[in-house]
Amino acid sequence: MTGELSPIDKAKFVAAKRAAEFVEDGMRVGLGTGSTAAWLVRCLGDMVEKDGLKIKGVPTSARTAELARDVGIDVISLDEAKWLDLTIDGADEFDGELNLIKGGGGALLQEKIVATASDQMVVIADLGKQVERLGAFPLPVEIIPFGWQTTKTIIEEALVSMDVLGRNTTLRMNGSVPYITDEGNHILDLHLGRIGNARQMSFVLNQVPGVVENGLFIDICDQVVIGHGDGRVEIRDINAGTVEVDRLDFVEDDNLFTDLMD
Ligand code: 5RP
Repeated sequence: MTGELSPIDKAKFVAAKRAAEFVEDGMRVGLGTGSTAAWLVRCLGDMVEKDGLKIKGVPTSARTAELARDVGIDVISLDEAKWLDLTIDGADEFDGELNLIKGGGGALLQEKIVATASDQMVVIADLGKQVERLGAFPLPVEIIPFGWQTTKTIIEEALVSMDVLGRNTTLRMNGSVPYITDEGNHILDLHLGRIGNARQMSFVLNQVPGVVENGLFIDICDQVVIGHGDGRVEIRDINAGTVEVDRLDFVEDDNLFTDLMD
């Protein structure tokens, strides 16, 4: 089974597996969206089944909710949970201050609400997500369908005075029709190349009528768990200023992957 996993998938898996160790009995846990977060959900499901872990999971998308239920996690809504102990999610980019770009998977709105309503947010990622400065990954912005072309134009006008390398914006598509988020909205992807001032960018975008939320997560993430294809994991804690290096030696354990993939 491991032979079928690419080094990036192995990296995502070990990051998720290590981050799952942060989860304790009785916790209310925000469950992220994306391929890395899916590994986390499978790992937690495994711990529920084999170790009797008792948690409540708050998913950040319909697809994560489905997976969480499939693997036996007790799923509740954010309104039922009210506040969370911990959210673990993937990211499209993270910088040295653990500011993020998220929303590549289209779930940024629920992800941001859930992460903000958590005592701690932990990002799980492979090293390819680390950047000097955010912006190479197109910045997702969730906008309401009404008047979306006007919203797009206003955003493009706002970008003229911003410190970025590119200003092209594209409506995310699902085949021949606009992509629709779980909240019934569209996503504009901003091809900025490099964002000079992410905090300002986030503020300016959220002032535009029609914008629901943007994919910049500023001062939200507390720790990042970076996985490597050889089983190494690095845990950076932005508040404590610590870096811990660990190694998970089960990368070659075929049964574990097979069990989790079943
Ligand atoms: C979904 C996200 C994901 O966390 C992000 O796209 C990373 O995904 P993956 O783990 O598949 O690389 O923000 O909206």
